[in-house]
Amino acid sequence: MNNTVLVTGGAGFIGSNFVLAWVNQGLGTVVNLDKLTYAGNLDNLVSLEHSAHHVFVHGDIGDQHLVAKLLDEHKPRAVINFAAESHVDRSIHGPEDFIQTNIVGTFHLLEAVRAYWGALNTADKASFRFLHVSTDEVYGSLGKDDPAFTETTPYAPNSPYSASKASSDHLVRSYHHTYGLPTLTTNCSNNYGPYHFPEKLIPLVIHNALAGKPLPVYGNGLQVRDWLYVEDHCAAIRRVLEAGKVGEVYNVGGWNEKTNIDIVRMLCRMLDAKQPRADGQSYANLITYVADRPGHDIRYAIDATKIATELGWKPAETFETGIEKTVNWYLAHQDWVNNITSGDYRNWIQTHYSERGEEMA
Ligand code: NAD
Ligand code: DAU
Repeated sequence: MNNTVLVTGGAGFIGSNFVLAWVNQGLGTVVNLDKLTYAGNLDNLVSLEHSAHHVFVHGDIGDQHLVAKLLDEHKPRAVINFAAESHVDRSIHGPEDFIQTNIVGTFHLLEAVRAYWGALNTADKASFRFLHVSTDEVYGSLGKDDPAFTETTPYAPNSPYSASKASSDHLVRSYHHTYGLPTLTTNCSNNYGPYHFPEKLIPLVIHNALAGKPLPVYGNGLQVRDWLYVEDHCAAIRRVLEAGKVGEVYNVGGWNEKTNIDIVRMLCRMLDAKQPRADGQSYANLITYVADRPGHDIRYAIDATKIATELGWKPAETFETGIEKTVNWYLAHQDWVNNITSGDYRNWIQTHYSERGEEMA
């Protein structure tokens, strides 16, 4: 088998970081299947425009015939599934797309992969991998003093998004146990870094601050997330692909728990230093408490001991180094942000935040 991998959702935030690293490190060719929803952005991959090692295909993971054709044509040694609807708030407004892509789409993808894998010769069959990229949200919400999620924490998803990801994880698990498909699943905590769509907390706060708009904090702002720099997540996925035990699950996290309000205040301090406001005021004066997210999970925290001890993966970035790179990237790539903050994005921001009692337009 050649050194080609099929990546799904490779025009989104984490997928595009993964594709860029894979091609730039000379690891082989990526066939990148992406539906280009509002979250998919080919601007992320413009540096690969002339690369012979990046083949972009516009399509849906739920299109089993298309996936079968791509597998047959490119004979990848692995499939890495990033494609998903990923935003919790959107899943609360409209769950259907989440069911279609995250559950039904993953099912069709698995069916196409099962047929392809079943027809491989014995050696290729043994080395093939299907890696499913999932989330810590499937484990539900932790209390303040609870131990962090391990790979054996029972699933307790609370949002339509996390329920759809949990379903897809179960499908992947079943394809290993029933059909022997060589699967791997990673459950990662909150990522941040370049190409993060500005509907999510960190890029939204940077974007709004620079535009002089309110910085919306849901509820009391004391919810906790465990942050990991996106390139560290991509490195963890490569490591699991290379050395993970077939059928196993690996939790990935940065040992970096922070409350939302601390994140927002830290971003304000960084922007005050790097790009002071014309009126001399702090960006923190823009912080605005808005209505809470329905069913808001209080705390996520990942115990990443298994991937550290069994596979030797650890994050390279601390939160301080990662957030510094991230803020610098956004300051240097305002064009990238401006290109996506139009159309569907503006409608979403308008509807979503006016419901929370804040006009953002
Ligand atoms: P994203 O929303 O930025 O990107 C998703 C990509 O998938 C987009 O390019 C979109 O066009 C594509 N896509 C959507 N539906 C598709 C379909 N039916 N067929 C093909 N492509 C489709 O998401 P992200 O933040 O990059 O997350 C990627 C994966 O990682 C998701 O599975 C998500 O659940 C998981 N994850 C994300 C985080 C995080 O903090 N962002 C953390 C842990 C796990
Ligand atoms: O934990 C992994 C998950 O992290 C991924 O599976 C999801 O795909 C990803 O979107 C992310 O989910 P969150 O809901 O944690 O991310 P989000 O950036 O939407 O919100 C982070 C926290 O900040 C959350 O507690 C809600 C809060 N928040 C978010 C927004 C957009 C605010 O207070 N204000 C906001 O405007």
